[in-house]
Amino acid sequence: MILPSQRALFDMPDEICYLNCAYMGPLMRHVTAAGQAGLARKARPWEVTPADFFATTNAGRRAFAALLGPPATEDDVAIVSSASYGMATAARNLPLASGQRVLVLEGEFPSTILTWRERAREAGAELVRLPRPDDGDWTRVVLEAIDARTAVAALPALHWLDGGTLDLAAIRGRLREVGAALALDVTQSLGAQPIDLAALDPDFLVAAAYKWLLGPYSIGFLYVAPRWHEGRPLEHSWYAREGSENFGGLIDYPERFQPGARRFDMGEPSNFALLPAAVAAIDQILAWGVANIADTAGALADEIVRRGEALGFSAAPPSRRARHYVGLRAARPLPDRLSERLAADQIYVSVRGGQTLRVTPHVYNTSDDVDRLFEGLQRVMGGG
Ligand SMILES: Cc1ncc(COP(=O)(O)O)c(C=O)c1O
Repeated sequence: MILPSQRALFDMPDEICYLNCAYMGPLMRHVTAAGQAGLARKARPWEVTPADFFATTNAGRRAFAALLGPPATEDDVAIVSSASYGMATAARNLPLASGQRVLVLEGEFPSTILTWRERAREAGAELVRLPRPDDGDWTRVVLEAIDARTAVAALPALHWLDGGTLDLAAIRGRLREVGAALALDVTQSLGAQPIDLAALDPDFLVAAAYKWLLGPYSIGFLYVAPRWHEGRPLEHSWYAREGSENFGGLIDYPERFQPGARRFDMGEPSNFALLPAAVAAIDQILAWGVANIADTAGALADEIVRRGEALGFSAAPPSRRARHYVGLRAARPLPDRLSERLAADQIYVSVRGGQTLRVTPHVYNTSDDVDRLFEGLQRVMGGG
């Protein structure tokens, strides 16, 4: 179902044409208010109880588990700062031996590549950067690369540069055949693209909240499959240890951890400002329905592709691109400083890789924004 414009929920003036959710999702007004109220609590610390530390994180875990859907539960979710933190946790826990391989996509976001490059070096393993296929069929490239040497595939649901999509369920099936693990970064898809967690069965899955979760910066969520719940966290904080609710017992330094994925929480996970804001945003996403967000952004994306093609850009066919995420590839390098020149007209998109215009709509956009984008493009590109 296509949602009517939700722009009134956002602090987004009429003159702004913001088509750049893949860069940063805007906070809704009530999300900002939730964050401000949380920050203000710290002005009155006598009102913050030990129980609040746990209620704050558990609300975040519950919201994220609801977004993932079954079989995820609150117990499977850790509170992290970033995608890189979540990936580092995956890299610390997934077995990797000398001679084995870790598969990543060429041009993948650094949080994945840098993490696994280090880990592969330490293990004497090989980081294989799978080359971008001319036909955009990433799924085939990944499937063909999986063999007995594969220990881990560290993948997104779509390529962040242009929205090129992957059939993760098929990839999961092949990984299972060779006994390899799956670490997912769904920062650019979760919240705008439905996910079938049961089918994907990731070992670890991370999402930073500040893009399609429409949440604040510096907070994210890590799903950890139950089979890894006994693993090793990156940090050792009092909070993650058994019985930490009892502040009087902290210097017993317990050996045991809090249940489930809680041991993987970053230090100071009870962020009283960021977490309530992230939860308020996820609750609104659940109320809209992710499938409806995909339909709404997808209809705008289709219009953007149609009009982009009429202007000489090319885009991957519908089966090879995510619905909410458009990469318009120009036949020639794009004009210098294109995104800055569009921004001067208050039109916001990203240029990635010199030749690709990345346009990422959401439920605050309408066809008027698409008109504005193409008027702006014609002005800048026509004018040289
Ligand atoms: C695919 C992807 N993952 C993760 C991130 C953010 O990573 P981090 O939270 O480690 O800064 C981005 C930001 O653009 C991204 O595109």
